Amino acid sequence: MKFYYYRKTLCLALILAGSFTQFALAQEADPKFALIPYPSSLTEGKGSFTISSSTAIVSADRRFDNEAAQLNLLIKQYLKTPLKQLKSATAGKSILLKYDGSITAPEGYRLAVTAGGIVLSAKEPAGAFRAIETLRQLLPAEERSAKGLKSVSVPAVTIADQPAYAWRGMHLDVSRHFFSVAYVKKFIDLLALYKFNKLHLHLTDDQGWRIEIKKYPKLTEEGAWRTFNNQDSAVMVKSKNNPDFVIDPKHIVQKRGKTLYGGFYTQEQMKGIVAYALSKHIDIIPEIDMPGHMMAAINSYPFLTANGENKWGKLFTTPICPCKETTFEFAENVFTEIMEIFPGKYIHIGGDEVDRSSWEQAESCKELMAKNNIKTTAELQSYFINRMEKFFNSKGRKLIGWDEILEDGISSTAVVMYWRSWVPYAPVKAAKNGNQVVMSPGNPLYFDNEPDRNSLYEVYHFNPVPAKLTAAEAKGIIGAQANTWSERIPSENRADYMIFPRMTALAEVLWSNKDRYENYMQRLKLQFPRLDALGVSYRLPDISGLVERNVFIDETVLNPVKPLSDMKFRYTTDGTLPELSSAALDGPLKINKNMAVRLAAFTTGGRRSDIYDLQYTQQDLAAPVNTFVSKPGLSCNYFPGEFKNAKSISGEPKAVFTVKNIVVPAEANAPAFCLKYQGYLDIPADGIYSFYLNCDDGGILKIAGREVIDNDGPHGPFEKSGQVALRKGLQPVALDFIEGGGGYTLKLKYSFNGSEPVEVPSSWWKH
Ligand code: ACM
Repeated sequence: MKFYYYRKTLCLALILAGSFTQFALAQEADPKFALIPYPSSLTEGKGSFTISSSTAIVSADRRFDNEAAQLNLLIKQYLKTPLKQLKSATAGKSILLKYDGSITAPEGYRLAVTAGGIVLSAKEPAGAFRAIETLRQLLPAEERSAKGLKSVSVPAVTIADQPAYAWRGMHLDVSRHFFSVAYVKKFIDLLALYKFNKLHLHLTDDQGWRIEIKKYPKLTEEGAWRTFNNQDSAVMVKSKNNPDFVIDPKHIVQKRGKTLYGGFYTQEQMKGIVAYALSKHIDIIPEIDMPGHMMAAINSYPFLTANGENKWGKLFTTPICPCKETTFEFAENVFTEIMEIFPGKYIHIGGDEVDRSSWEQAESCKELMAKNNIKTTAELQSYFINRMEKFFNSKGRKLIGWDEILEDGISSTAVVMYWRSWVPYAPVKAAKNGNQVVMSPGNPLYFDNEPDRNSLYEVYHFNPVPAKLTAAEAKGIIGAQANTWSERIPSENRADYMIFPRMTALAEVLWSNKDRYENYMQRLKLQFPRLDALGVSYRLPDISGLVERNVFIDETVLNPVKPLSDMKFRYTTDGTLPELSSAALDGPLKINKNMAVRLAAFTTGGRRSDIYDLQYTQQDLAAPVNTFVSKPGLSCNYFPGEFKNAKSISGEPKAVFTVKNIVVPAEANAPAFCLKYQGYLDIPADGIYSFYLNCDDGGILKIAGREVIDNDGPHGPFEKSGQVALRKGLQPVALDFIEGGGGYTLKLKYSFNGSEPVEVPSSWWKH
């Protein structure tokens, strides 16, 4: 999946197929300390401490004034009255915020809860704040309940904790669709809950300029508003089946006799957001994306381009021109105001996806290139970034850019944000060049990619450090972040759905960096009530054990396991969406004719899970072929080139490989290609087999001449499943796969008689 291609492509329908891990999740006991991220060390104590209105917050150190206030705000959520704040301990019981110079790890802290009181120790205010957020997760989930409680109790525990990575970030694109100040603050509070420390706001793009710049008022007067575009029409189509795709009416206005979509943050509003984030020790990283992605600005300030044009090229829009002093004057003026709003160290310049063709013909560029001995427009781009970096540095700031800034030379002081999965060497090159690197590869860290039942696992097992680095070079990887691009995210509920709970998995990778996946899944279940209380419209857990395309011989039953015990299944068989009013599925549903079932699970609050479209088809057991093949593995035909979908593959293969099982051979290394796998499965016993095909991009699986899975088209890693009835013996298999660039995901699993899906054993493949 090459990203720009994918982002312009509408995503496929909702996710199907459940999760066997979730099955385990529903069965196991709850862990006592359901903290996410899990601390470095935790020892359970005896008893508990009760916080009531007579408890005092004691903080002798002025350094922790903000934290004492934050702690008081937290407790006030429960008791509805603030606690006394004292400078020194008195006879009563207290929560003590204590300076401890021996805690040297940045953001490190200790938390001790005993029957006698609570002590939070840290050297840095940031550490004290992270301790408060740990305490928050030990308090009842209903932190926003309307009525006050007399007291809250905290289980006795000793925790010593510190983060694994310095950069624990989330990104939000507020340009393609806009998000309100209230939503950004809500998001910041959730970042704090999970110990993130960076919020990267993508403030400008072709589709809207979202931050007031006083020197260039048209940037927001005009650039923040648009008539509905193709991204809006795409979500409007989707909104017919899912209300989360309804464009937020808050951001639709009547202006100049037109219906316009948009919005922007005033400088005052943004300073308020920055201060709110700082009180929670979260830095906001503003991104003003240039020289490309500038259409919204160029519309009002056309002098910025090389030739006055402002249009879409093959893939990207006309960039601003790096060969004119007026461009630098504009860019420096904009960033000067940005630096006044955002006091943090890092300023993001974007630098991605630039169509440089307009620079090639421009006289100004020819002159500048001759004068500075610049040979290519790629070098020109690097000239622009390097010059802007000097400007940032002169103001005491650090430049960050997407990994394209590496391409034709970059100073080693810029921070590189890696995103292009199809350029795997980029973060290695950056780290070897001495740059600090933040990892945010499209797979699995683009949270605008549709989540499926594997997403949490994939995010949880993401290793920020690329394999090819030495231990010394690995120190250049300062952390990671997930990016949420909002082309197809027109509402706050949709943003919540795409971000949660994936963000909690990333939180644990970046803070704890220890594989406790099964335990994390248990803890996650206990986070849901808190997310409910905080009004987060998170993606509900998957329904386990489902396959999308089912087959039966005489009859079968649909009898799913509830992902959370208080959920209720509802279904339809007439193609309509399952609603709260649809038929309940309280026990097994017998199926003995061809039909389609739409199934969903609902929470007691009425929220709906993903919708599972389940097809049922009667089949006979397919007879095996009567042939003799002895060679292990499959043959794999290789067709370099761009293919729209797996159905459109034709022509002669460039090469034919033999593979042991369904893997992408290392020799298939063109930027885009297609693979056709052919061979036989040596099926060990008669029965109905389920297959699960996870691919990026498209794939189609046929067995015994029957189409089992259609997971075709350009898309991110996404699993689909299907069944086929097979007799024991050799069954012909054809799998067609297309790779548009950068995805390289191709996994085939099977299950039989309800077993957990596992990779098809190599010994079954013959050709
Ligand atoms: C990007 O996704 N263009 C950084």
